[in-house]
Amino acid sequence: MNLYIHTIGCQMNVYDSEQIALRLQAMGYQQTDRQGNADLILLNTCAIRDKAEQKVFSYLGRLAELKAQKPSLIIGVGGCVAQQEGRKILSRVPFVDLVFGTRSLDRLPALIHTVQAGKGPVVDVDMTDTLGGLAAAIPESAQAGICRFVTVMRGCDNYCNYCVVPYVRGAETSRAPQTIIDEIQGLANAGVREVTLLGQNVNSYGKKEGFCDFAELLERVSHIDGICRIRFTTSHPKDLSDRLITTFADLEKLCHHIHLPVQAGSDTVLRRMNRKYTRDAYLERIRRIRAACPGIAVTSDFIVGFPGETDDDFQQTLDLIRTVGYDGLFAFKYSDRPLAPAAKFPEKVSEAVKKDRLGQLLALQEKNTFRRNGDLVGTVQTVLVERRGRRLPALEGEGDPWTGRTSGNKVVNFIWDVRGGAGTEPAPGRLVDVTIQRALAHSLWGMPVTGTESTAPGEVDAACGSFAQKMAG
Ligand code: SAH
Ligand code: SF4
Ligand code: F3S
Repeated sequence: MNLYIHTIGCQMNVYDSEQIALRLQAMGYQQTDRQGNADLILLNTCAIRDKAEQKVFSYLGRLAELKAQKPSLIIGVGGCVAQQEGRKILSRVPFVDLVFGTRSLDRLPALIHTVQAGKGPVVDVDMTDTLGGLAAAIPESAQAGICRFVTVMRGCDNYCNYCVVPYVRGAETSRAPQTIIDEIQGLANAGVREVTLLGQNVNSYGKKEGFCDFAELLERVSHIDGICRIRFTTSHPKDLSDRLITTFADLEKLCHHIHLPVQAGSDTVLRRMNRKYTRDAYLERIRRIRAACPGIAVTSDFIVGFPGETDDDFQQTLDLIRTVGYDGLFAFKYSDRPLAPAAKFPEKVSEAVKKDRLGQLLALQEKNTFRRNGDLVGTVQTVLVERRGRRLPALEGEGDPWTGRTSGNKVVNFIWDVRGGAGTEPAPGRLVDVTIQRALAHSLWGMPVTGTESTAPGEVDAACGSFAQKMAG
């Protein structure tokens, strides 16, 4: 039987989809990348903005014909829109067989059995916590890849006024440290070299449950052999602790990148968003991070056109962007979410103004990104190789490029053979020292350091060390 999963939304959904696929393997479902071949199609959905939600229904609309041709096809809708809408999805899209919420993954095989037995449609949007349930599944080496996400906590207790996440993902719940360590050890054994630990606010990891704190979790993960790089996302500025900041300097495997969403540059807007920090407090955190870890890449999220946002408020956002000098950012037009309080706030900003502000913000950042990338020209960066890159027409005849990322999460392309790289050809999972030669809008081009070796996975720990020393120097 063939399973096709379509994922919309954040990295947590990517992780959940991977876990779903691995668990359904045990039921005899093999993943296919051809929708037309599928016996089971699952749609993992996102409710963060109206646009994301609309995507779900237009996708489902396109499945009507497939379902008519093949009535045995099972169609399931999971994730945040499923959690938000529940049974209502069945009245809007009658051919859906299964609606499953964000906390029903452990029950999914049983739900699918029910549908297979002809007892559908089934709806399970129960928020009963399943974190203590099944252990995470580990992929086989051939499918594991080099970089993977690992969810360490689910849900959110912060209730930012614009945000649907606390309502669709439930209360903050952390996984026990040992289950996380075991999972990452399993991934390392399968060839994974980089893990990104996921949570809506990793800084409150383990607090409710009385587990170790997040900084200690990072340290424990760093002792896992074979894992060479660790990243995490997201840290909420209001409780980014000094201890976590110093971890960037102390833990060699922790990549030099922090994603610290600020959302807005005006205190009035931040207060009305219920973000619980001020502009100054945010800037002070950034200063501390940079003092602890010079050169660290900093990225952020922004919302433009939050209800009541004035031109002056928006100017303060642009000013904050100039002050921080981000390496990159994500920016979104504010979107009403029916479950979130801001949907009822008056003084809505018009679509035209939101569009204009988004355009101004992105144009400013484009220059910043280019400048920050340009700062790296001439430096040597250690790149974790992920795969073959795309051949550029201008480089015809020079061989296929390799692509990977720096510790600061910037994509680097380089050609190994002709430019003086000696020793073993790179391969996914190997580390290569690359001199950055050119900064492009979204990536860097470089040349392997003359005479350098690409480092074998067994030597990975030593190589990570050399990178940290370079950064410190
Ligand atoms: N937990 C993370 C954010 C998760 S949602 C944090 O607190 O930083 C990812 C991003 O989506 C948010 O940072 C925000 O910029 C954006 N977002 C959330 N709700 C939104 C809404 N209603 N309209 C527009 N953007 C939104
Ligand atoms: Fe949403 Fe705020 Fe929680 Fe982030 S911290 S998920 S923006 S409620
Ligand atoms: Fe979207 Fe749910 Fe993630 S709303 S951003 S998929 S937590």
